[in-house]
Formats: sequence, C-alpha cells, structure tokens
Amino acid sequence: MPISAGCPTMLELADVHAGYGPSHVLQGMSFVVGRGEAVALFGRNGVGKTTTLRTIMGWTTRLRGTIRFQGQDISKLRTDQICRLGIGLVPEDRRVFPSLTVEENLRLGLFQAPYARRAVREQRLQRAYAWFPKLAERRRQAGTTLSGGEQQMLVIARALMGEPKLLLIDEPSEGLAPKIVADVFASIRRMCAEGISIVLVEQNVRGALDVVDRCYIVERGRAVAEAVPRDILERPDLRARLSI
Ligand SMILES: Nc1ncnc2c1ncn2[C@@H]1O[C@H](COP(=O)(O)OP(=O)(O)OP(=O)(O)O)[C@@H](O)[C@H]1O
Ligand SMILES: [Mg+2]
Repeated sequence: MPISAGCPTMLELADVHAGYGPSHVLQGMSFVVGRGEAVALFGRNGVGKTTTLRTIMGWTTRLRGTIRFQGQDISKLRTDQICRLGIGLVPEDRRVFPSLTVEENLRLGLFQAPYARRAVREQRLQRAYAWFPKLAERRRQAGTTLSGGEQQMLVIARALMGEPKLLLIDEPSEGLAPKIVADVFASIRRMCAEGISIVLVEQNVRGALDVVDRCYIVERGRAVAEAVPRDILERPDLRARLSI
C-alpha cells in the first residue's frame, strides 16, 4: 500500500549525512517507507544506495540527520539493537557461510532470538522452508554447493528467520538467470503481502517496478526524485536519469 494512501510511516530518513571515515557519501538522504509498503532505491553505480542501507543498519559513520523506525530515532543505536527492533538486511554480496549447511546458515538468522524456545525456532525454520521449498531439499548441503539463485533464496530466508518488520534488500537479482530473477521478485511480492515493509535496491529497474509501490532516484548521496512505477516508464526525464 503506498504511503500516499495514508498508511503509517515505518521508516523515515531525514537529511542523513554519513560515510566511511573521511569519505562523506550520503549528503542529505531523505525518504520514507510506509507500513507494508515496498519502496525501491534506483540510481547509477556509486551514488550511495548500498551506503544508505548500511547506514540504516548502523554500519557507517553517521554524521548527522535522523533515521526513525516506527517513530523511534535509531540513528545512534548499534547494529544489534537495530536488528532487534525488527530491521533485517539482505546484503549485496550474499554472504552465505561456505562451510555451513543450508540449515546451519538459516539458524544463524535466529541470532536475535537466542533464548527463543526450541519450538519457536523450529517453527521459524519450517516457515523458511515453506517459503523456499528448494532449501528444504538442500538442507544438509554446504552453502557453497548451491546455485547463485539458491544462495540468494538462502540469504533472504535467513533474514526472514529474524522475523523482520522491515527488510532491506540489496541487488537481489544481480548475476541471476531471468527465471530465477522472476522467482526472487515473486518472493519479495509475497513478503509485502505478509505485511513486511521493503526497501529494495535494484539495477534491474523494469523488474523491480513490478514489485514496488513507490521509488526514489538517488544521485550523489541523496534522493533527488520520487515516483510511482508508472511514472518512471512514462516520464522521459526520469528515464534519462536512470538511462533506461
Ligand atoms: N567501505 C568503504 N570505504 C570507503 N568508501 C566506500 C566504501 N564503500 C563504498 N564506498 C564509496 O561510497 C560511494 C557509494 O558507494 P555505494 O556502494 O553506496 O554505491 P551504490 O550506489 O551501492 O553503487 P553500486 O550500484 O555499484 O552498488 C562510492 O564512491 C564508493 O567508492
Ligand atoms: Mg551497491
């Protein structure tokens, strides 16, 4: 549901400046995500999309500006505190642990719930397998023996093990065959249907437009335009910004 339809704000970045040590990458990043909404961040290479997701997770040097999650200022919290509030990240580089099995990789997603009862942990595991049945077939296989598409499913499923309310997903379609890309986007659509809010970073603009409610175009560390998917394809000025 688009935020313009009146749903409450889940995430809000206001004039966020952040970077890596002396490297000042985000230069006034501002955008909002509504509850249950899927929002895309589009932009050319190196404009700060990944840095935006890392900054929300508390992995960069945050200089100024506020990041609010469900109304709470999280801009000074540690990453583990941010995760516990219900934000998950599916990173660009997938980070499947090679020597661990699929199931062990999935169980790592429970790190925020170390004291959860065994039944709860098993329930989350079964839910992950229900989302991605292929992972159930491969539960005893080492992470690295999976195809690229299966590894992407595994990192999404691992993030879902933490039961996030907001999931940040960085370039999930990168390097995957078109059929697998369609599966990945379908899984994102399902997450939205279950009420999880999404921030999706994608180079595959056309594919992502089928999944998201709204999008922002990022240039030089800030969101310079906001649009609904239909506008991106119909407005030559927006298409030019994205070279599509
Ligand atoms: N660990 C780091 N230390 C210093 N600078 C970094 C670091 N990571 C990224 N940068 C710089 O920050 C800028 C933004 O990088 P970022 O990865 O956020 O871009 P992006 O929009 O995700 O690009 P891409 O589409 O290529 O993934 C780039 O100039 C990059 O070189
Ligand atoms: Mg990136």
